[in-house]
Amino acid sequence: MISVLAGNWKMNGSKKDLDTWFKDFFEKAVDFEKNNLIKEIPTILICVPSIYIDYALKLADEYNKKTSKLKVFVGGQDCHYEDKGAFTGNISPLFLNEFGCEFVITGHSERREYEQETNEIVAKKSVNAIKNSLTPLICVGESLETREAKKHLEFIEKQVIESVKDVDLNKAIIAYEPVWAIGTGKVPSLDDIEEINSHIKSVIAKEFGIKNIKVLYGGSVKSSNIDGISKLKSVDGVLVGGASLKGEEFFNIYKNSL
Ligand code: PGA
Repeated sequence: MISVLAGNWKMNGSKKDLDTWFKDFFEKAVDFEKNNLIKEIPTILICVPSIYIDYALKLADEYNKKTSKLKVFVGGQDCHYEDKGAFTGNISPLFLNEFGCEFVITGHSERREYEQETNEIVAKKSVNAIKNSLTPLICVGESLETREAKKHLEFIEKQVIESVKDVDLNKAIIAYEPVWAIGTGKVPSLDDIEEINSHIKSVIAKEFGIKNIKVLYGGSVKSSNIDGISKLKSVDGVLVGGASLKGEEFFNIYKNSL
């Protein structure tokens, strides 16, 4: 059972795609509710490109009225560690909050790789997200090289500890996303996912005394492999990239996680 189902649209989508997504997702959701098939209600959210957030929030407002239980939140994909200033092109968590977002991804591996975000920057962004009433989904994950060298446990431990520096862990979520599993169709074995997710939980408990941190898994999750992943003891939810782009497939991920 998962308590968070998050989608990451990355740099994809259009207004038309959002229209279709909400239509398709809610067609299934309304039907599901009508047939009393709902057992668990996770927090469901999609993180869309920032320019589409306002449009997606309006659609969410409209469509969330059609269901009584299943609701969709809209989140950001990144935020800055300052509230305002001379940071051309960046998005302040203040803006996300003003528009009505409650969640934001921080430290995604694509930002770590292409925007040179360090653990220190990720931690600062996450602190500022919380200050602005957003829940950060703080991403961590090892490269294939690190995994093959069997250094993944120590790598993740260091990455987690540094990426949550000064973060209020009662208000944050961690997402374990092995870089080599993102967008590749390759998924670690269920034992491997369980090993890392429970390792992250014990690191957080040992270092910071927080025992109930939510840890998601992300990397090539889809409706056909969610069943096993969602049953893992230390997986509290999933962060989905490619398979979150279609409303019907995203709904099927929810359905098959039950
Ligand atoms: P993917 O992406 O599901 O397409 O592998 C996951 C992510 O980057 O969050």
